[in-house]
Amino acid sequence: MPCIVHENVDQRQAAHLSYVRNMERKNLNPVEIANHLVVMKEKFGYSLKELEIKGYGSKASISQKMKILNLPGSVLDKVREGKLTIAHGLHLLELPTSEEQERWAKRILEEDLSAKKAGKLIKRYISKGKQHKEAQEVEIPEGEIPGVFMKDSRDMSELKDESVHLIVSSPPFNIGMEFEEGISFEKHIEEVKAVLKECARVLVPGGIMALDVADIHTKHSSKEITLMGHRYQEWLREHGIYLKNIIIWYKNVIPLSKRKDLLNMAEVRHTHYKIVLNFEPIYIFRKQGRREVPSEEKILASRLSKKEILELCDGVWKIQPLKTKQGHPCVHPEELPRRLIKMFSYEGDLILDPWAGSGTTIKVANELNRHAVGYERELKYKPVIMEKLGLTDGESDTEVVRTMIESVQEIRSEVQVLEGATEAGETEGDICMAKIPEDGATPVEMSLNQ
Ligand SMILES: C[S@@+](CC[C@H](N)C(=O)[O-])C[C@H]1O[C@@H](n2cnc3c(N)ncnc32)[C@H](O)[C@@H]1O
Repeated sequence: MPCIVHENVDQRQAAHLSYVRNMERKNLNPVEIANHLVVMKEKFGYSLKELEIKGYGSKASISQKMKILNLPGSVLDKVREGKLTIAHGLHLLELPTSEEQERWAKRILEEDLSAKKAGKLIKRYISKGKQHKEAQEVEIPEGEIPGVFMKDSRDMSELKDESVHLIVSSPPFNIGMEFEEGISFEKHIEEVKAVLKECARVLVPGGIMALDVADIHTKHSSKEITLMGHRYQEWLREHGIYLKNIIIWYKNVIPLSKRKDLLNMAEVRHTHYKIVLNFEPIYIFRKQGRREVPSEEKILASRLSKKEILELCDGVWKIQPLKTKQGHPCVHPEELPRRLIKMFSYEGDLILDPWAGSGTTIKVANELNRHAVGYERELKYKPVIMEKLGLTDGESDTEVVRTMIESVQEIRSEVQVLEGATEAGETEGDICMAKIPEDGATPVEMSLNQ
């Protein structure tokens, strides 16, 4: 390495000259600069004023440059490597603990945040922390199956007012599915409204209700499709719960060219075509008011990654429905509640499914470190729920199998009615789209001849 010899220069001046040379070569990183400034000040006794005169920048910027040495080692390494700037470092120093500084440094790198943006977010984080009131401990009422009540959700008195943070569910149609009595539309509305009233009572202010509400494509109650979403909107509005977003669950990810029913379309009277029913709307409602936020630790743990945000904020979710029944005719694919729970709740929140079915929402919520509670009034699904939640022992396994066989038998007779649809390439998930015709015609016949 070439070495420059300066005569009549003391150590104090030599330190400065070596700095100048290195800066000319531009090979000092911010941490080395900060270390140099500290040596100049503390070892060689330069005042800030003297350093300013020697060209180290303003007194304020010299102090700031030195300050970054207070960051934890792992964060300093990132500054040294040029992954974080001094400005990032200074914002990180506003955080009170080194753990928080490390956590935020990680987030800045993961999300590629500019110093300005990081500064803004850190300020918001700090001010929230000051206002933060520890959210109430979640209380899960005891049920025979932990968190599950085998009873009608028109009465959810086990749950306290404003105790549930998120509701994820798919209401019944009550038009004669396996689990349904086939009651009148008016009675159905009355029942649903009673459940929604209870949901509104238990939901926290600012809490979300994500409902998969399919329209009714049947001749059961009318000659036309019965739209449902706007009815839920009206009923929930009465409780200060408002529609905020709609997601389309695109169900048939199989290409339409493989569907026999579409090939048979040649026989359909021109202008009488029927659009394939391969989607369901998911309505996102929010209750008015501001919800309490949990600890910053939980907020950070619940954050979606950039990739997840891009995927989940797309208005169309392509998720395959289940290909096999799991002891219940309308089981959601787990991916559906998983996305909704990740998107609209924090870890540690309480999630409710008032129409629990096979317990998919509860299972997924537990897996995502949330608490969960569900209501299902049909006792025959108890073993199915227990199986799903991993609560079955040897004896009840047998019970599960028996119930499943029974339910499969029931489903078979239903499927015969719907054969046209399945043969036509629709998956079983589609059968849940409330297409049971009143007059025995298969849905496809119904579709084509309407
Ligand atoms: C569409 S299914 C839900 C399926 C569920 N998403 C799953 O993945 O398994 C609706 C369920 O609500 C139940 N149900 C209908 N009305 C109810 C009520 N008032 N209280 C409790 N459960 C009810 C039905 O028995 C049915 O199992």
